[in-house]
Amino acid sequence: MQTPVSGASRILGVVADPVSQARSPAMANALLQQRGLFGSFVLLPMHVAAAGFPAFMAGLRTLQNFAGTIVSMPHKVVACDLVDELTPEARLVGAVNVVRRNADGSLLGTMLDGEGFVAGLARAGHMVQGVDVLLVGAGGAASAIAFALAKHGCASLCLLNRTPHRAQALAQRVSQAFPQVKVATQDHPAAHYRLGINGTSLGMKAGDELPLSASQVGRCDLLAECVLAPEMTQLLTLAPGQGKTIHTGIPTLAAQMDLMLSFMGAG
Ligand SMILES: NC(=O)c1ccc[n+]([C@@H]2O[C@H](COP(=O)([O-])OP(=O)(O)OC[C@H]3O[C@@H](n4cnc5c(N)ncnc54)[C@H](OP(=O)(O)O)[C@@H]3O)[C@@H](O)[C@H]2O)c1
Repeated sequence: MQTPVSGASRILGVVADPVSQARSPAMANALLQQRGLFGSFVLLPMHVAAAGFPAFMAGLRTLQNFAGTIVSMPHKVVACDLVDELTPEARLVGAVNVVRRNADGSLLGTMLDGEGFVAGLARAGHMVQGVDVLLVGAGGAASAIAFALAKHGCASLCLLNRTPHRAQALAQRVSQAFPQVKVATQDHPAAHYRLGINGTSLGMKAGDELPLSASQVGRCDLLAECVLAPEMTQLLTLAPGQGKTIHTGIPTLAAQMDLMLSFMGAG
């Protein structure tokens, strides 16, 4: 039997603007229910605009039954300056996607977008250790994924982006943090990749161009998406016809939810 929400429940949140589209309340509360933890914890949507975010974060320090919050757009970058401490993952990426409130009221921020991506791949049997990767994109999601792939031991990383200087800047930061990983910002027509990743927002809208060229798709064994909706992007729809294995954005979300709940002490 589930414990009802009560005065003893600890509050978890997802803070965003807008927040009505967030999937995390449904996903997190279902997971808490499966684990018999719903009632001890409850995760609620928190609609906070950018102007109010510093006051919201200050308020969390005083809210003694608050366990932590998932941080979503547009607060991920500014959250770095509003917590007391950052994990190495958050410091490298320069963004936070979950905050834990410690018993003394201090706030610890981490970034699990990349860790969730790697954990989602691993759950599907795709290990990143020693593999050559083509990653397209250099925004928030791609940056988190690049650092996580390097941390988990990929052999090489080719980073491409519409705006090349963003890929070059990311490549420099990844190389600095993980000098053992071979990082490039130019694709070679003879290069072969175990893993090709769309880390851009291309594929969210019907009619978007493909993030990888036909030649690049042909040179990847496994194609993975960072786009969550639609689940089957055009890239993923075309790939199986070319004998490619595919990996949607959804396993990332599920793996990330586990990691986030556990970071907030509710796992
Ligand atoms: N799976 C997950 O856990 C997770 C987590 C976060 C985000 N996401 C998803 O990942 C995707 C990207 O999100 P984000 O936060 O990284 O966004 P972002 O920071 O705004 O970055 C967008 C990226 O897409 C590229 N891009 C956008 N429009 C393009 C176009 N027309 N042609 C070529 N490149 C284009 C941008 O290139 P420029 O640098 O040239 O602008 C940039 O690299 C979204 O679908 C988001 O929902 C997934």
